[in-house]
Amino acid sequence: MHCFISSMMNEHAPYILTDSKSLEEALNQRLSDKGRIFILADSNTSEHCLPMIQSMLPQDGKDCMLMDLAAGEDAKSLDTAMDLYRQLITYGADRSSVMINLGGGMVCDLGGFVASTYKRGMEFIHVPTTVLAQVDAAIGGKTGVNLGSLKNMVGNFTLPSATLIYPEFLNTLPKREVMAGFAEILKHALIADHSLWTKIIEAPYIDLPLIKSIIPEASHVKVGIVNRDFEEKGERKKLNFGHTIGHALESLILESPGKNLLHGEAVALGMIAESYLSMKAGKLSDDELKAISDFIAQHYKPIELDRMQFHRIIELMRHDKKNKRSKVNFTLLNGIGDSLIDQEPDMEDVMEALNYLEHYPFPA
Ligand code: GLY
Repeated sequence: MHCFISSMMNEHAPYILTDSKSLEEALNQRLSDKGRIFILADSNTSEHCLPMIQSMLPQDGKDCMLMDLAAGEDAKSLDTAMDLYRQLITYGADRSSVMINLGGGMVCDLGGFVASTYKRGMEFIHVPTTVLAQVDAAIGGKTGVNLGSLKNMVGNFTLPSATLIYPEFLNTLPKREVMAGFAEILKHALIADHSLWTKIIEAPYIDLPLIKSIIPEASHVKVGIVNRDFEEKGERKKLNFGHTIGHALESLILESPGKNLLHGEAVALGMIAESYLSMKAGKLSDDELKAISDFIAQHYKPIELDRMQFHRIIELMRHDKKNKRSKVNFTLLNGIGDSLIDQEPDMEDVMEALNYLEHYPFPA
């Protein structure tokens, strides 16, 4: 069984494939009349996910070229892109070739960037294998690489020829990765889907079966937004909720030896602080703020911050590429299930929001 989550005219909609037979059919349909197939995978997905699809590829994948990378954000660089271009040249990639990006956000962003620029564009297919990539990174055509610690500084908007979502890949993920990706599902509910929020808070547990079951709704939120605003001129900025403070927390932790924080974990904490800002702006009730903060505090770990670090976080936010002039740009909630872009709260309120996050009672 597979479902195409919106109308057939919907160029951003991924295919959600709930059994291996339909994944095999989807791959065959797209690969049968193509030239050489290149598979980009990282050390995790070449070990755990490639074996799941190998027999579904033409000639059981014997003629496919595997390009594998070390797992982790460090691989998302121009150096790696150069190396991949060289491999594509060496193994004769041309306009009839296809690249399959089998992995999480890093593999999809990097693979999309390399494929969309190689010989001015070769076909690529995303096969996302993490929660984060299935509901976010593999939808909407953003590609890119980092320049040192500056994330996604070089890239473009290019759609894959298809995004094939197979929730069974998520069985291979560590729980911490699953929960980090779940933060993006929660964000989609908060910015645009009140009924998804209700489903989440009424669920007895946030576990993998629940997460797999809500992937269609969560991806649908993103598909709707990118269909209306592909190049992020307006509404697509809604997807940045939790990310202004979240990215700054991520950068702060990168500067702190011995600490680590996954992107989704930073976004979850960012959503507590940015919900506080939404309440201060008069757009979110106290009860809604408490419900969001309690839910996140139950499912994620706090980080310890001191006053000096608050100033550093504000400095880091000012460097965010989403800002114009010296203002810091936020997306805030307009009640649960709706959101407002281009909000510019006072820095005093941002300090208060960080204070609220720092003192929130996370259960031990
Ligand atoms: N991850 C946010 C976006 O695709 O716009």
